[in-house]
Amino acid sequence: MRGRGGIAASRKLQRWWRGCPSTAISDDFFVSGRDGRRMSAAPLASALNNVVAGGEFSNRSQMFHLVARYKGTNPLMKLRDYQSFRHDSSQRTLGLKLRSFGSASIKVPRSTTFSKINTEDICHFRAILGEKNAIQDEDRLSAANSDWMKKYRGSSQLLLTPGSTEEVSQILQYCDSRQIAVVPQGGNTSLVGGSVPVHDEVVINISRMNKIISFDPVSGILVCDSGCILENIGVFLANEGFIMPLDLGAKGSCQIGGNVSTNAGGLRFLRYGSLHGNILGLEVVLANGSVIDMLSTLRKDNTGYDLKQLFIGSEGTLGIITKVSVLTPPLLASTNLVFLGCRDYLSCQKLLMEGRKALGEIISAFEFMDCASMEMVLNHLEGVRNPFSSSMYDFYVLIETTGSDESSDKLKLETFLGKSMEKGLIDDGVIAQDMSQTLSFWRLREGITEALVKAGAVYKYDLSIPIQKLYDIVEAMRTRLGHSAKVLGYGHLGDSNLHLNISTAAYDDEVLSKIEPFVYEWTAANRGSISAEHGLGVMKADKIYYSKTPEAVNLMAAVKRLLDPKGILNPYKVLPSSLVLPN
Ligand code: FAD
Ligand code: MLT
Ligand code: ZN
Repeated sequence: MRGRGGIAASRKLQRWWRGCPSTAISDDFFVSGRDGRRMSAAPLASALNNVVAGGEFSNRSQMFHLVARYKGTNPLMKLRDYQSFRHDSSQRTLGLKLRSFGSASIKVPRSTTFSKINTEDICHFRAILGEKNAIQDEDRLSAANSDWMKKYRGSSQLLLTPGSTEEVSQILQYCDSRQIAVVPQGGNTSLVGGSVPVHDEVVINISRMNKIISFDPVSGILVCDSGCILENIGVFLANEGFIMPLDLGAKGSCQIGGNVSTNAGGLRFLRYGSLHGNILGLEVVLANGSVIDMLSTLRKDNTGYDLKQLFIGSEGTLGIITKVSVLTPPLLASTNLVFLGCRDYLSCQKLLMEGRKALGEIISAFEFMDCASMEMVLNHLEGVRNPFSSSMYDFYVLIETTGSDESSDKLKLETFLGKSMEKGLIDDGVIAQDMSQTLSFWRLREGITEALVKAGAVYKYDLSIPIQKLYDIVEAMRTRLGHSAKVLGYGHLGDSNLHLNISTAAYDDEVLSKIEPFVYEWTAANRGSISAEHGLGVMKADKIYYSKTPEAVNLMAAVKRLLDPKGILNPYKVLPSSLVLPN
């Protein structure tokens, strides 16, 4: 195998040709539903292992076909279960015990402008939705009131689950007339406390609105309800030979409506760009119940203001998204994934710069994680393993390529890796040889979020920072915090998006006072953004001035007041309450 692709093979480089020993998918993996009930994933594991061993599947995209096929043969295994099995996604952690809600959970005073719900209101909602969709059950309310991290908790007494746009409209019309505050909720995977009530807001969960409405295989344009789970859309599209332009670790739970409302970024942003470009149309219900049909399926449409853009990233504060039209790219035949060990941040940066040139149109993800992130995953997640056995590196990079010509894509990638190794940018590397390895490499990166939650308290910052300076804040934070906390840096390096996370055993005001406002001041001083992709939610509503001018914030508040004069939609989120709520 030596010398394949014209690369002078060093010892470590040869590992690429061999691949690291195949990681068999363990029967110990389990899947769990929303109710936290555990089921063995053994049947799916065994099916996957058989197929992987037979070499039938060699790339990440093809696995969707496998899932679809397997699903057809085992009625026990539901579509979404595969996600939990694969990434141990948010589903699984729903089983985490509620822990104390700490100092990082911000509380703003309840606005007296809002009515408290009474029996008459509940009767009214039951008349619209039916008894079982106006929920007061304690367990369901408890889940709706607390976020994925178990960090933010509200005290809503009512969860509404509408099944149609018309029902959403009737709910909002009534709430607006009575001045009842509401929180739109999708998969509830927000990392900034955006999807749960701050006080007693009524939760409107969109999950029941989950139908694919149409798909045009010529244009690749999909229209669906906003409650469709991202991964389910992916499975549907894979059968049609397409993919979603968006992929993220929470895909098994998050909904397209939530993705659009947060303008989620994720792993494919580098290749396919922002939802501001990929979303072609929306149907939205405004605070007063009026339905705005902007559900265009056109790529080009310059008639007047592009109003849908206002709702993309507005975090449920301007309207409830009920339908989405999205441009989807074709599923390409060849995908490669490499997991690399690097000695310093500068090497990661140079690797990105050179990778962009050398891999050009086939590069589809460029992610990084530091040693502290790797340790976090290895220490807190079950079933993960270090691809480099016991060797640890200061930095790790994942590069994914996706293209249409397997042999030329591979050659390009291998040539690039060989050259980078010769230049000393890579210390060690592994190319995923099969589906099992592909999944296990992604698990290391995508599992950091979950590992952090398992480790204890987590202070999460999602920053856009010019790439040369991106890692400086991680080091500065380590200096400030000393041994009192673990400081992790990982994220979407290809998009200059750092996820700075601070992990401690329990929430502590003293630790928080060392982190904030320093983190925001540093980011602003370095011309960064305090929210790259997660949004502001309740966590950063009053921090918006670090990234936007007062004039811009005032204009945002004016838009909010125009579309939602009574401020009932997701109050206390995104903008400072003083600008949008009467008191
Ligand atoms: P929710 O969490 O339910 O809601 C998010 C916000 O949108 C809230 O403000 C809510 O009020 C609003 N909302 C929800 N549905 C609607 C609707 N139909 N109409 C109007 N408003 C609505 N984010 C990224 O950008 N990139 C990542 O890589 C990424 N990875 C993640 C990994 C994990 C493990 C987790 C837990 C979260 C991750 N997130 C990421 C954060 C999160 O923003 C996304 O998961 C997702 O976009 C949220 O979708 P959701 O359906 O869960 O929305
Ligand atoms: C990620 O990129 O892993 C997500 O945005 C979640 C996180 O920041 O932890
Ligand atoms: Zn991210």
